[in-house]
Amino acid sequence: PRRIGVLTSGGDAPGMNPAVRAVVRVSIARGCVPFAIYDGYQGLVDGGRKIRQMEWKDVHSFLPSGGTNIGTARCMAFKERAGRLQAAQNLIERGIDALVVIGGDGSLTGADVFRAEWPGLVDELVQQKRIASELAQRYRHLTIVGLVGSIDNDMASTDMTIGAVSSLHRICESVDAISSTAISHSRAFVIEVMGRHCGWLALMAGICTGADWLFIPERPPVDGEWQDRMCETLRQHREMGKRKSIIIISEGAIDSDLRPIKPDDIKDLLCQRLNLDTRVTLLGHVQRGGSPCAYDRFLATVQGVEAVEAVLRANPDTPSPMIGTRENRITCEPLMAAVELTHKVSKSIAKKDFQAAMELRSPDFAD
Ligand code: F6P
Repeated sequence: PRRIGVLTSGGDAPGMNPAVRAVVRVSIARGCVPFAIYDGYQGLVDGGRKIRQMEWKDVHSFLPSGGTNIGTARCMAFKERAGRLQAAQNLIERGIDALVVIGGDGSLTGADVFRAEWPGLVDELVQQKRIASELAQRYRHLTIVGLVGSIDNDMASTDMTIGAVSSLHRICESVDAISSTAISHSRAFVIEVMGRHCGWLALMAGICTGADWLFIPERPPVDGEWQDRMCETLRQHREMGKRKSIIIISEGAIDSDLRPIKPDDIKDLLCQRLNLDTRVTLLGHVQRGGSPCAYDRFLATVQGVEAVEAVLRANPDTPSPMIGTRENRITCEPLMAAVELTHKVSKSIAKKDFQAAMELRSPDFAD
């Protein structure tokens, strides 16, 4: 039977636990042996109790729980070849020949590098007499399957990453809560949301809460112009009788000269030009914690099922797959093609080709 390791890596995301649960239980149902690797790549390098065989009951109550119960870490040791060599030894000693990695683009790229290096790592382990050569024959290939867990929804080739919708719910609840106090005091609020270099959370939150103005990295406003346009729009909204002004800003927001736009700059502008009593709220990690919403439980479960199926179908000559979803269908596409497409967005922004960035990110909103 295949022995399948599962790990979560990078920033946690609601839905990672349901994904782990699905991988563990479907592995067992399909006659494989699942292992949880604790603390992401750090657990692969450390081995010992950080690599544990999982049973059906071990993932009991994972479905509604937030964060990742098997831990995550940003691991420097795995970036070094010596760390990856140790990781390969730890896997071979336990007979693990497949890994399901749940994380963002950086974590998934790391997994693909590991797979590409694998035969060389195995040879080196034999040379250094750290594993027997018969074992090396049995473990010539490592199968990698990626699942995208990130609240940022910043991965190309999939409509939705695991965790993004839960985070959006949390943001909407928070903006609604802020709105009520804003109305009481007739105040303006500048609310910063996460997303790294991706404006999806800010854009969706703006639509879902009816914000007055938005800043997202993919559609930077022209410096010197946006200040007037924003103030004029907010003034008009106030004239129409609105007692609150809500501005949502993505943490990666920039202007058309690629300079960061900061919440405090917006606050100062609103105070000075419109005389609005303005507060800044950085929502922070409340956006990432807490129980996954129904959609993320569902998405993580069906993608987890597909991840195990992809391990069973895998062939040493085909590229590592990434499980995604497009138009409500679960997809299985080459992982590195998705990563490259994702990087194209940042490259377009760096070249100030904002239209291309928006089309790559979200064609529906590009106009
Ligand atoms: O990628 C997920 C994310 O929450 C981003 O939105 C945010 O920029 C970053 O991680 C925060 O990372 P940390 O938890 O290390 O501060």
